Amino acid sequence: MNELDALVDSARAAFAQAATPTDLENAKAQYLGKSGRITELMKGMAALPVEEKKTRGAAINVAKQAIEAALTERRQALADAELEAQLKAEALDVSLPGRQRGQGGLHPVSLTLERIEVIFGSQGFEVAEGPEIESDWFNFTALNTPEDHPARSMHDTFYVEGGSAKAPNLLRTHTSPMQIRHAVQHVKRYRAALDAGQPMPEIRVIAPGRTYRVDSDATHSPMFHQCEGLWIGENVSFKDLKVVFTDFCRTFFESDDLVLRFRPSFFPFTEPSAEIDIQFQSGPLAGRWLEVAGSGQVHPNVVRNMGLDPERFIGFAFGMGPDRLTMLRYGVNDLRLFFDGDVRFLSQFR
Ligand code: PHE
Repeated sequence: MNELDALVDSARAAFAQAATPTDLENAKAQYLGKSGRITELMKGMAALPVEEKKTRGAAINVAKQAIEAALTERRQALADAELEAQLKAEALDVSLPGRQRGQGGLHPVSLTLERIEVIFGSQGFEVAEGPEIESDWFNFTALNTPEDHPARSMHDTFYVEGGSAKAPNLLRTHTSPMQIRHAVQHVKRYRAALDAGQPMPEIRVIAPGRTYRVDSDATHSPMFHQCEGLWIGENVSFKDLKVVFTDFCRTFFESDDLVLRFRPSFFPFTEPSAEIDIQFQSGPLAGRWLEVAGSGQVHPNVVRNMGLDPERFIGFAFGMGPDRLTMLRYGVNDLRLFFDGDVRFLSQFR
């Protein structure tokens, strides 16, 4: 191997050893710089005769070009490596996991409503549904709650377009308007028989649905659920209401020793009226009285507004809160969880 080939080899080795661009530029100076090896060789040609200068010069040039080529190659390699390292460091995973179809389920309150319908259904109650936008008549006046009645102030609600200026339409504050709506339909169907003094099949209905009040905290939501119950006949008594409602609560909570208490209360549309409290004998809520419904004997004025003679027909009504029943059944302590729509909460009821 001649001296020039050896020089090229040593330059290649030096470049290969350079790990950074700075190292490489330093190595380059040793060969191609002002006082580098190639430059020295060029200077050393001055004394040679012309002919030799030509061949020697050409040979040195070949070596110089080879070193320059090795330099360019190494520069590129270092630049590529640097870019690669940078890309790796800044790498961003923009891929998303594939979409999965989650397992759905009924909302806990829907589960409760289904349960209520099944239990009362087994006791001969049909299920009725009615409008959430109500008239003043059905929501208040027909229920013995005339304009300016103080009981109205406990039912502050959202008024909507329609109705009259004096009695605008509103979002119903309870499901009790369904007592009137359903009874009127029922009575219409049996009008002829009634007028002829013949018997009328009993009214036995529940009416679940959404209700509204201006109220909002951990146990009140501006939108909440109620389920109305109505039982009207010629021979119904408070005892029947007690039996039916006690049976419902024990079945709903799957607790045979559940105790009920009918606590005297007031509603304009029932007289007498009672608040229904329940008490568990075991479990985390044992021993506490928990209010679950309002109830009472349907007021004669309301029976009249149904199109029936209060001297002949008597009835009982109750209104319960399915949201509260759901909280008690599952041990939920904040009503708002039902309406937040958080899948982590809801998926526990699947
Ligand atoms: N509507 C009453 C309420 O919302 C409950 C109720 C219904 C009371 C039926 C008596 C009879 O508070």
